[in-house]
Amino acid sequence: GVKTDICYTTRQDVQHLLKHRKKFSHKGLYGHALLLGGGYGKMGAAVLAAKSCLRSGVGLLTIHAPAAGYTVLQTAVPEAMTLTDPNRRHLSELPEETEKFNVIGVGPGIGTAPPTKTAIGQLLATATQPLVIDADAINIIAGSERLKEQIPENRVIFTPHPKEFERLAGKTANDYERLQRLREFCHTHQCYITLKGSHTAIGTPNGNIFFNTTGNPGMATGGTGDVLTGIITALVAQQYNLEEACLLGVYVHGLAGDMALRTVGAISMTATDLIDHLPKAFLCLQ
Ligand code: APR
Ligand code: MG
Repeated sequence: GVKTDICYTTRQDVQHLLKHRKKFSHKGLYGHALLLGGGYGKMGAAVLAAKSCLRSGVGLLTIHAPAAGYTVLQTAVPEAMTLTDPNRRHLSELPEETEKFNVIGVGPGIGTAPPTKTAIGQLLATATQPLVIDADAINIIAGSERLKEQIPENRVIFTPHPKEFERLAGKTANDYERLQRLREFCHTHQCYITLKGSHTAIGTPNGNIFFNTTGNPGMATGGTGDVLTGIITALVAQQYNLEEACLLGVYVHGLAGDMALRTVGAISMTATDLIDHLPKAFLCLQ
């Protein structure tokens, strides 16, 4: 099998990773991210991912969403530019000039309608930049052997919850086998995976596994996964390598949750609370 190390991510590890802003820098240095997200009745997922992306230091953010999302997105996330898909309810194609974006985050709220499957196929076949792939984008790839074969090497981060991971990589009998599967899948496809849960495990192409040490059960509520997608997308936009983006992103996401725990508690915590605590979480790592 694949030789591996299993490690825990500590505060020190991620503090070393954090990049500091230079006095004479400008937004062009912090990347331009494209977010493909939202669908009819699930525009909130795109809003959450977009807001967390902006709170995680991205230089510019463009959201490409179904036409029904235009007013919602422009109102909820004024910092982001919005492009609309010709389809009212579902993502159905990629925007023009995708080359200008230095990362593409895809999945929150997109659903699995046939036109969206076509768009995901187009994305895997034509994109050249790193991809952060979440939620139904994972489910779509998981459902097609052809798409799985098209996963580009060393350019993809998947952010599945356990069910999505099972669809992508197959059923396993226990936690041990699941970690074996994580390692194998990352090695075979030369990709990164943040396997989310109470102890999120990050798998890398060389077979290493890192366990995160932040987070709490208050985060077990709809939308917190979309927040992670936005954070990791922003970090890749800022030229963190894919491993760094996974480690720092998952850590700071959990840290924001731990800070929210102190102010709003586990019962009342929402995904928006995580976004609201991201500034404090990044500050405390500086
Ligand atoms: N402790 C710490 N962190 C937790 C815990 C816990 N007990 N439970 C959940 N989390 C974190 C996970 O690590 C992950 O980062 O919360 C996040 C949840 O992410 P998702 O499972 O992707 O949830 P999200 O997408 O926001 O919710 C909507 O519900 O029915 C499903 O598949 C549907 O994707 C949809 C999801
Ligand atoms: Mg999710």
